[in-house]
Amino acid sequence: MLRTKIAGIGIYLPEKVVTNHDLSKVMDTSDEWIQERTGIKERRFGKKHHESTSTMGAAAAKSAIENAGIEPSDIDFVIFATLSPDYFFPGCGVLLQRQLKLKEIGALDVRNQCSGFLYGLSIADQFVRTGMYKNVLLVGAEFHSAGLDFTTNGRNVSVIFGDGAGAMVLQPSTDQDSMILSTHLHSNGAQAESLSYINPGCHGGVHQGVERFGYPDQEFGGAFLTEKMFKDGDYYPFMDGQAVFKTAVVKFPEVIMEALTANGYQVSDLNMLIPHQANLRISQFIQKKLGLRDDQVYNNIMRYGNTTAASIPIALYEAVQENKVKKSDLVCLAAFGSGFTWASALLKW
Ligand code: ACO
Repeated sequence: MLRTKIAGIGIYLPEKVVTNHDLSKVMDTSDEWIQERTGIKERRFGKKHHESTSTMGAAAAKSAIENAGIEPSDIDFVIFATLSPDYFFPGCGVLLQRQLKLKEIGALDVRNQCSGFLYGLSIADQFVRTGMYKNVLLVGAEFHSAGLDFTTNGRNVSVIFGDGAGAMVLQPSTDQDSMILSTHLHSNGAQAESLSYINPGCHGGVHQGVERFGYPDQEFGGAFLTEKMFKDGDYYPFMDGQAVFKTAVVKFPEVIMEALTANGYQVSDLNMLIPHQANLRISQFIQKKLGLRDDQVYNNIMRYGNTTAASIPIALYEAVQENKVKKSDLVCLAAFGSGFTWASALLKW
């Protein structure tokens, strides 16, 4: 039976390093608070007017394509996951298609935030398994720093996130020791607004508890971006940190165990868990709950912050570079985030 392998992986991290100390110059925060609550020491920020989510994604994609030993013209489908797209529409997939001069292939944008890369991986896996595509390019990229509130008002969110990109080329595999074994996707919209960026949007207060709108006094139009949104400063992401934490520490272990059980494995069989780098405290909680050793969990949030859709490929890339993930190792990728959505993938590297 045809299966999928990761034939190439690449990343892009912007040059600019921003430390917790740098942030404490523009808002009321401290290195101590940030490290204690999140484990983050520094993050990268993209260069405004020179970089964007799609350009960072394209840079990571180029290196993944090179790593796979193929040409951009070999790519036959693009999946681009991000929550910080260059444009509201069209999506980053077509911008990447233009930048890399890809053929007139399909380009799909995935909007599943922190789980976006794994949702994309699952889609890529299905396309490859059915024989429809032979070289799927999957990209996760974020330019968070362009859209965060760097005043004390936004400090609970803005200290957590960083910019960056990761990409993979997925190909058919007949090697039993190098393939994606399974993917598992979940969602529950009950707390959709607990981690959200609702404007610009046409919600208009139809959702319970969401009053952040302000349609102009006219029968049609003008509702996506309103004066009230600007007056209220209602154009930043919102996070109920404690709700996220409480649900994440339940759903992460659940979806990791689901992947292991589906393939007849136990926690002790796992060579490496690469969790979405949400928060070091969340990773530590998962590790403890599952009884994993330190060498079975990879974390790099200390250096890059939370890069949402890009965090899993960046972490996997570094784990491979550091020889912590080796050929045929059993690796679990797991994510949880806005939606809420959560997902896992089990693979043999
Ligand atoms: N610096 C200093 N003080 C801060 C900061 C900051 N950056 N942010 C908030 N505070 C203050 C608050 O104003 C509050 O002050 P007060 O007591 O005077 O009102 C105090 O710190 C405590 O605030 P809480 O929000 O209760 O802090 P908490 O202990 O819950 O920690 C945190 C917040 C780190 C966000 C925590 O809830 C958490 O880890 N949640 C998980 C969320 C997460 O990791 N999200 C990642 C992105 S989502 C994802 O990838 C799944």
